[in-house]
Amino acid sequence: MKKIFLLIAALVPTIALAAGPSIPLDKHRTDLRDNASLQSGAQTYMAYCMGCHSLEHGRYNRVARDLGIPEDLMMENLVFADKRIGELMTNAMRREDGQAWFGAPPPDLTLVARVRGADWLYTYLRSFYADDMRPFGYNNEVFKDVGMPHVLAELQGMQVKGTAPVAVGVDSLTGIAITEERDDVLYVAKAGTLSTAEYDRLVFDLVNFLVYMGEPIALERQRLGIWVLLFLAFFFIPVYLLNKEYWRDVK
Ligand code: HEC
Repeated sequence: MKKIFLLIAALVPTIALAAGPSIPLDKHRTDLRDNASLQSGAQTYMAYCMGCHSLEHGRYNRVARDLGIPEDLMMENLVFADKRIGELMTNAMRREDGQAWFGAPPPDLTLVARVRGADWLYTYLRSFYADDMRPFGYNNEVFKDVGMPHVLAELQGMQVKGTAPVAVGVDSLTGIAITEERDDVLYVAKAGTLSTAEYDRLVFDLVNFLVYMGEPIALERQRLGIWVLLFLAFFFIPVYLLNKEYWRDVK
């Protein structure tokens, strides 16, 4: 009976996750050890997102330390508001204004990667497409009728939803990609300043940074975890020998 309860308890989160968005999410291979990626993500965030979305549970000096950014460079290049390095990363956007301007206040994003998951964020930020019915001219494939404008449109270009060829495999003889016409696919109709690969990379870094923000201690925990495992491995040797010693006379 107890086992059945345990099994159900283990399955509940899986079932909850399975009820996620209807379109398949692209995988984000999060790499918190890649400092260059985290720094580039922080830079994009401060330039394009911070005006609307605060990171109010984080502090600038903590980010600078964790990401290996010298404090003066951090202040010069990443802190645009009138802030000191030890302050919380809040912004000047008032909830009522956000509500009035966008139909929904832009939420704080410190914990968004934990709530939504990295794959969702990675897909969301690459899934804006032109839609004349929306106030800012864009809709989103994973967040229908989102209030957020496509703030990265100049970089990505204009994506539209329509019929386009999609790569479905590779011809084993010629090595040429096999394509198939599909409906309702997103494709870039008007190029932006970045290529698709460059834009994907920029969003990858941005999501990497958001995952870090959601749990700044993650890196330290991994490092510590290795020491704990090593300790246990070595500790096992004297324990094993002691155990043998104790039981020698009993047997
Ligand atoms: C001009 C203001 C504005 C800017 C700039 C902006 N956003 Fe948003 N964002 C919004 C608004 C408004 C919403 C809420 C949309 C809604 O609920 O319909 C939102 C929602 C989101 C959400 C969904 C949050 C959730 O879990 O519901 C994410 C993720 C997000 N934004 C990420 C970003 C990132 C990353 C950037 C920078 C590249 C950015 N935003 C820039 C206004 C903005």
